[in-house]
Amino acid sequence: MARRTLMHVGPSVGNLDVQISSVVPDVGFASPEFVGWMANALEGARYVMGVSRNYSSFVLPYSGTGAMESVTSLLRKGERVLVASNGVFGDRWEGILSRYPVRYKFLRSEPGKAVSVQEIDRELQNGYDVFITTHVETSTGVRMPIEEVSKVVRDRVSLIVVDGVASVGGEAVSAEDWKVDVFFTASQKAVGAQPGTSLMVCSGRAMERLGGESMAPFYLDLRNWKPIMDGMETGIGGYFATPPVGAVASLSRAMDLIRNEGMKERVRRHERVASIIREGVEEMGLRVLAEEGLRSNTVTAVLLDREGAGEIVKRSMELGIEFATGPHPALRDRYFRIGHMGWVQEKDAFAALSVLRRVVS
Ligand SMILES: Cc1ncc(COP(=O)(O)O)c(C=O)c1O
Repeated sequence: MARRTLMHVGPSVGNLDVQISSVVPDVGFASPEFVGWMANALEGARYVMGVSRNYSSFVLPYSGTGAMESVTSLLRKGERVLVASNGVFGDRWEGILSRYPVRYKFLRSEPGKAVSVQEIDRELQNGYDVFITTHVETSTGVRMPIEEVSKVVRDRVSLIVVDGVASVGGEAVSAEDWKVDVFFTASQKAVGAQPGTSLMVCSGRAMERLGGESMAPFYLDLRNWKPIMDGMETGIGGYFATPPVGAVASLSRAMDLIRNEGMKERVRRHERVASIIREGVEEMGLRVLAEEGLRSNTVTAVLLDREGAGEIVKRSMELGIEFATGPHPALRDRYFRIGHMGWVQEKDAFAALSVLRRVVS
């Protein structure tokens, strides 16, 4: 198999140590080894999302979309939900919420922009119980200013939920200081572990909601996972459904390496790589889709003045760099995305730019 540099939006550039850690000998989910990995991953989730033990932590055996749908464990029948969506992954909430007996409204931005704090402020006057948004919108590379948004929202709803699937591990996240109730991510993105798990932290006020009647699907209901997580954190194994043992081992190793690097330095590395990519793209005469001031550390969407983005991705792959196509329906084949997250280094950015230059010239 050809070796490529994975500048995709997840999984992204890997780390051999983390990858090898997923290959474990016969280990059961009740073994002390597995319980140790889970406990480490649960604490690591708090570290990368900037919360203390005041928050409950979950490592769940399904990808980011499963974590999104698990949020329905915290919703109550008839509640009013406001979603600020900056693209395809914000819009994914509609596919979820439309299946549940809640009332919802979407505020949407044009591709490359973000719903403004003023718009959110204005809409909240109509009365909502829950607010949901996405930290980094992977379809456009836009980063929502969560701290600023939360200041306007937090005293006006009883639950704030942030999808940090494309941000956590590459962006500064202080969910507790920002008073976000639910922050979650997926293992394959900027945390840089094997795909297959998601991580979620929930405030005390979010956890109180588990006491109410549930409308969540059985497997995704946090009520079923909570006692398992509590047990793991106190060294006691438990079973609700079989966990992906190797993926959790890899996640635990990723958390060790993240702690060694330190989140501050990790974010700085992501910033450095992101700015190399953006400068290089603009030097080639291409446009960064996300507006200045809203550009993420983890994803750069590159806009063309014509169709042909799919061909650029295909030819780059032949030359050893894997980019991602663009899923935004308004920009079909007019843009592609460069993922720069997880274990990405400056040298990967230079290699990616060099291939891109050759392909677009
Ligand atoms: C912001 C965001 N949310 C949710 C998801 C869904 O996650 P998964 O593909 O792990 O189910 C993604 C995936 O790319 C994402 O980028």
